[in-house]
Amino acid sequence: CPKRDMEGRSFLITAGPTWEFLDPVRFISNPSTGKMGVELARAAWYRGGDVTLVCGPGVKPDVPGARVENVVSAEDMLEKCLEFRDSDVIIKAAAVGDYRASTVQGSKIKREGMSTLALELVSNPDIAARLGQLRRDGQVLVGFAAETDNLIDNALSKMRSKGLDAIVANDVTRQGCGFGSDTNQVSMVDRRGRRMDFQGTKEEVAHFVLDVVTELLEE
Ligand code: C5P
Repeated sequence: CPKRDMEGRSFLITAGPTWEFLDPVRFISNPSTGKMGVELARAAWYRGGDVTLVCGPGVKPDVPGARVENVVSAEDMLEKCLEFRDSDVIIKAAAVGDYRASTVQGSKIKREGMSTLALELVSNPDIAARLGQLRRDGQVLVGFAAETDNLIDNALSKMRSKGLDAIVANDVTRQGCGFGSDTNQVSMVDRRGRRMDFQGTKEEVAHFVLDVVTELLEE
């Protein structure tokens, strides 16, 4: 029998990559599959939460009890997250594209006679930081940080600059971690400077993250 410690709590969870189109047939993206976000949504629902899962393209959101919202670009994801920004718990597990094309071409970019192609990119809004600015009392905001170096220092500075309560950091250069993998090894740091390490399947990691969220909600 699952613990129902999330009963009466609303969750906004984001998962997967974003697609930033250059023209009608090409986009910039990343290898995120959304597994971690989907496992978080499943765990939160299983524990009694009211869950909204905002998914980037290609994510399989098979969480029967969650409200699923599909989005494509970072700008779409921001818009959808703003709709649900009052949620008690917001977990930003999506790998949001940092840049998009400054102009999306209306027709396919031609390659004939072009040995190089220069793209001008503009930065996307930082959704986590925007939600951090809009936060209300009692809300818990959790981010993710996929890092290749200085794991803890980078995670702590992201947590602080984005106004988050905690961040789950993982070193994507390690075997069996990060993009597309079924397992994860994470270090979670919180607003009080606590550091908690955990290793397991993404399902187990999801429950570990929710255990920390419960503590943050009660503090
Ligand atoms: O990309 P970065 O390492 O800064 O991501 C850290 C956290 O910020 C993640 O939780 C990610 O979902 C979030 N983020 C976001 N919007 C962006 C970039 C990152 O919400 N444009």
